[in-house]
Amino acid sequence: MGKWVKACAQNQLSTNNMLPFDIEEKKLLITNLGGKIYVTDRICTHAEADLSTGFLSNEGVRCPLHLSIFNLENGQPQNPPAETALKIYNVKIDQNEIYVEV
Ligand code: FES
Repeated sequence: MGKWVKACAQNQLSTNNMLPFDIEEKKLLITNLGGKIYVTDRICTHAEADLSTGFLSNEGVRCPLHLSIFNLENGQPQNPPAETALKIYNVKIDQNEIYVEV
């Protein structure tokens, strides 16, 4: 079990947007996809691009460098060249604040 850390207020992350969030050496990506909040690692598992500068679609987040798409539910890459899943994190919302378990 990790500890819960406050990442941001819910209204800082509008629908279909992403925010970078750094905590204790971890570089995280908080995403609001269709109103649901996901948190994953932010650095692409292929060649370390920053996914917060990538593109969001219904399929997930697309890496800006070589265009692999990562599913936000399970972190799995949907297409090459990435082969390794992003780490995913538990999220909760409490009093309009988004918390991440790190
Ligand atoms: S750095 Fe992300 S797919 Fe290559």
